[in-house]
This record gives sequence, C-alpha cells and structure tokens, in this order.
Amino acid sequence: MTINTHQALFTRTRRTRRTDNLRRLVQETHLEPSSFVYPIFVTHGQDVRQAIAAMPGQYRLSLDQLPNEAKELKSLGVRAVLLFGIPSYKDAEGTEGYAVDGIVQQAVRVLKDADPELIVICDVCLCEYTDHGHCGLINTNGEVLNDESLSLLSEMAVTCADAGADIIAPSDMMDGRVQAIRHALDETGHAQKAIMAYSAKYSSAFYGPFREAADSTPQFGDRRGYQMDHANVREALREVEADIDEQADIVMVKPALAYLDVIRRVRERTDLPLAAYNVSGEYSMLKAAIQNGWLEEERVILETLTAIRRAGADILITYHAKEAAQWLRAND
Ligand code: PBG
Repeated sequence: MTINTHQALFTRTRRTRRTDNLRRLVQETHLEPSSFVYPIFVTHGQDVRQAIAAMPGQYRLSLDQLPNEAKELKSLGVRAVLLFGIPSYKDAEGTEGYAVDGIVQQAVRVLKDADPELIVICDVCLCEYTDHGHCGLINTNGEVLNDESLSLLSEMAVTCADAGADIIAPSDMMDGRVQAIRHALDETGHAQKAIMAYSAKYSSAFYGPFREAADSTPQFGDRRGYQMDHANVREALREVEADIDEQADIVMVKPALAYLDVIRRVRERTDLPLAAYNVSGEYSMLKAAIQNGWLEEERVILETLTAIRRAGADILITYHAKEAAQWLRAND
C-alpha cells in the first residue's frame, strides 16, 4: 500500500476542526475577561454620561456613575480598570493631575469603596492636565523638560496610591520615570503597589479619538520627541529593558494592532507580564466599519483581541472589554 503523505496531512488538519468541541480542544489561544483592563474616562459634575463621538459606546462618566460601572464589570468578570481624568482646569504644570482631591484620585476612592477587589490602575501622565497638552513640563522654547517632570509624575503616582490605586501606569515616556516613581512609592509606604510601564509607546495616529475623549491634543508640536518612531522595533526592546532595570512589574506595548510584531519580540525577550493597549483608534476603526455594516461585530472584535493575545500579550487593555466579556460568557 502506498501512502499519499499530502493526503494524510490534509486529513489530519481537518479531523480536529470538525465540531465546536474539537476546535476548542485544540485551541491554542484563549480570551478571558480576567485578563481584560477596561479604560474609563472620569469627569467632574453630576449625572454625567457623555458619549464620546469618535468612540461609539464609550462615555465620559462623573463620579456618581462609577459604582454602577464597578457592579457591571464585576458581573461580567472584568476585574481591572484603567483611569483617565478630565480635570476642571488645566495649567502649565498640570496641577490637578497630582492634587489629593483631583478627579482621578476621587475616582479611585469611589471605585474602591464600591468594590475593594476591583484592580484600579491609574494612568500617570501630565498631558490631560496641562494647558499645552504635553506629557511633561515645558520650557519657554516649548521643549519638554525630562528631569523636571519626574517629580510631578512621582507626586501623581503617590496621590493615586494614597487614594487606593493598585497599579501605577506611567504613560508619559519621560526617561527614568519608572525608577523615580518606584522610589517615590517605596518612600511613602507603597512598596506593594505595582508599576505597569508603558514601555514601548509609539507616537501614533491611532490615539486620535482618545485625545478627543480626554481633551489632550498638544497645543503645539507633537509627541515625537518622547514617544517612539513607528519604524523602530529594536528601540522598543531597549525601552523595555530600561524599564525592567528600573523595576517595572509589568511592561506594555502600545498601540497593539499595527505592532503585533513588537508584542512578539518583547514576549520573547522577557518573562514579565506583558500588556498590550488596543487603543482608541483601533476601537473606532472597527466600530466605524461595523456601523456601516461592512464587518460583523462580534466575530471581528473577538478575532482582533485573540490576535493580540496570540502575539504574546497576557493583559489586554481594551475599550471592547465589556462587550467581549459578554460574548465570551454567552458562548461558554
Ligand atoms: C496619555 C495617554 C494617551 C493614551 C493613553 N495614555 C494619549 C497620548 O499619548 O497621546 C492613548 C490611549 C488611546 O488612544 O486609547 N499620554
């Protein structure tokens, strides 16, 4: 008897794809709501649930809305949130960002009161709070001052930790900020609080909708002086290494979709937990096509999130967290 090897191979690949249960048995990548992080935009005022035009299904929420949000997330199995604040005023130093009663610090308290087990992560960056919209302090020439910004970022980290945040996530891309924040947290009794560093954060056009949501578009220039060039990947590995040296607990690649190769390279380089940020523009792009009837919502979103996991991310920061958790539950 002669064996046609091509035929045998062909049959083997099909045998385990025959039924839903067989496909699940051999599935290599799994999506779990417990690895999702849901970003929330918090704003001042009462009863505010303001739709973000460029991000269908996402809202700016006032503090009173947060307990309900916590309840919903718990029921869906989503256990972590990432907070962004929209301050009542902006100034050159981004004062509300590190105020004890700043909007994010208040939001942490409200969420922790509502659900002490919810993992609360604070994005630490000045751009939402500065009138010029840059991620650090600037001098009269409009240049970003790296070292001078570190103490303000550290102060923001400490006020968030004081409020009860579990994880501090610096997204500013100043050099040395992980070390500065680690030191500040340790000095203030927060040695147990973790740092999730936006290590490989690219200067990306995919942040457009976020900047509308957080009102954080730079008033002049752009962020290319401190965020990474999208053409580079070895540089990402150096950024990650620097953050690990500075004692980051979790490293991140951002954005996710146009950077799946970067996620894979970082995954191969470190055993630390790796987060990927499925950013605003990636969300809006799918939603726009879905609204046009060009893409099938549930399938395209779950496929996208699975791809980010398959590339090597452990943690998915995504605006799709709630709907994806719902679908995963329903399909279970
Ligand atoms: C703050 C920050 C930004 C995002 C997260 N943190 C904006 C930026 O760097 O311009 C973008 C997130 C998104 O697009 O969803 N620095």
